[in-house]
Amino acid sequence: MIPETTLDQTAAWKTLANHADDIRHQHMRDWFAQDPDRAGKFTLDACGITLDFSKNLINDEVMTALFDLAKQESVEAKRDAMFDGAIVNHTEQRAVLHTALRNFSGAPVKVDGKDVMPDIRQTQAKMRQFSEAFHNKELKGYTGKIITQVVAIGIGGSFLGPKIMSEALKPCWIKDVDVHFVANVDGCHLHDVLSELDHEETLIIMSSKSFSTQETLRNTLTAKEWFFTQGGEQKDIAKHFIAISSNVKAATEFGIDEKNIFPMWDWVGGRYSLWSAIGLPIALRIGFDNYEAMLKGAYEMDCHFKTAPLNQNLPVIMALLGIWYVNFHHAQSHVLLPYYHYLRGFPAYVQQLDMESNGKRVAGDDTVVGYATGPVIWGSEGTNGQHSFHQLIHQGNVLIPADFMLPLNVPNQHAEHHAMLASNCFGQTQALMQGKTFQACFDDLASQGLDDKTRTALATHKTMPGNKPSNTLLFEQLDPQTLGALVALYEHKVFVQGAIWGVNSFDQWGVELGKVLGNQVLDKIENTEATLDFDSSTNQLISRFRAANPT
Ligand code: F6P
Repeated sequence: MIPETTLDQTAAWKTLANHADDIRHQHMRDWFAQDPDRAGKFTLDACGITLDFSKNLINDEVMTALFDLAKQESVEAKRDAMFDGAIVNHTEQRAVLHTALRNFSGAPVKVDGKDVMPDIRQTQAKMRQFSEAFHNKELKGYTGKIITQVVAIGIGGSFLGPKIMSEALKPCWIKDVDVHFVANVDGCHLHDVLSELDHEETLIIMSSKSFSTQETLRNTLTAKEWFFTQGGEQKDIAKHFIAISSNVKAATEFGIDEKNIFPMWDWVGGRYSLWSAIGLPIALRIGFDNYEAMLKGAYEMDCHFKTAPLNQNLPVIMALLGIWYVNFHHAQSHVLLPYYHYLRGFPAYVQQLDMESNGKRVAGDDTVVGYATGPVIWGSEGTNGQHSFHQLIHQGNVLIPADFMLPLNVPNQHAEHHAMLASNCFGQTQALMQGKTFQACFDDLASQGLDDKTRTALATHKTMPGNKPSNTLLFEQLDPQTLGALVALYEHKVFVQGAIWGVNSFDQWGVELGKVLGNQVLDKIENTEATLDFDSSTNQLISRFRAANPT
């Protein structure tokens, strides 16, 4: 039998379990009443981000015990190993160096004794040159028309970062050009995008680190077929197709001109790849200077993460709070609530980052983990969610910690709208924290002429337990630099949690199995004579599909 990880037998873990028992019947609203300085004590600023974590189920003792857990699990040493290029991703024998892509220190970063910074700078210079040529209208298609439309094809990390960050920085968009994103292999999406475009003005970017992802290969092939049916020929491909990949050989074999390939490296994880050439569509959308500002914001957060003491370290604190709820309060999910329309995709971005990284069950010492690891990450923009799923967060019987996010200023600000947005954001955190007592609900019903029984029943329904935890993250405004810092904040939060749970946050074997089985099923669908030898359910589904799609 494979032995179980012993983290949950350790002293720090047991201390936290005791604290959880101690505070189970205490209420945050009493803590706020008792300590007028609670907000000040539990608020930190770094890299343009303010984190108010005072509305959490914590006191000084809990925080001390959480920091002790981080120390016990050598979080700082593990962090330094990652930044230094150690083989942190041990199941794939890879370093994890997305931080090198935004390293503005001038210092070398070595993998196997070789400094990776010169290659990074060379690729970034190529990205700058390419985006400037695009914005200066120097990129021309095979008929001499100026390229103004970009279709970026990729999936997972080769899609979410570029799309969601481009969307978040809409106020920085360069005019007269457009960047479209396609991920799903569902042909409807690609069809919708391509059918609106003039192939003579269109550039296709194929973004795939491995250059072997089924969806991306299929979508790019279809885009190529579309290009040919519109009048383009093989010799014209070089002016309309580029690739971003660590597999330069496969990209060249696919027909992409070698000078049109932007390299990346195996030490950049897919879900951390927006800092590599995978970020090119962002630079095309907002300009290279703005893209570089994002990198600088992320670098600032890296410096903060590396140097701030644990008790003043934003990613560490957010990670520890997450562990506090997952492992000691049975929270199974974590909701992200950006109160900013342009940041509406951020929950989906963090969903991949967090769930693909920490959705794991085996620790680094090959033991099976017996405690919960990464939570379900979900959410959407405020205030929309208030009229939908917030009800469950307020009164449901499951604990759902929340991260509220709000820029204090937004471009094109309509003062009345922004004040309402902010008041809803703050009001929600307040309602979740303080709730509403039965007595307050009962008193409110005094004027309605109800008999006592009805009044009691109604007050019971209206009672809000409160004591629901939330963080509030404020930004002066969500400019490229602050967005970079925000993304890096969540990356490091996920890293710290993985370091404590002991899992490898940088592989994704579960996803790989899905890819393999998907290909096996595709074989049976395409080869209609093939015997169906899977389980009876899968066989039945394939049969029905074959019947509905005769060849
Ligand atoms: O979904 C799994 C995954 O491996 C992600 O980690 C990655 O971002 C995505 O597939 C796309 O991979 P690639 O860039 O190699 O096409």
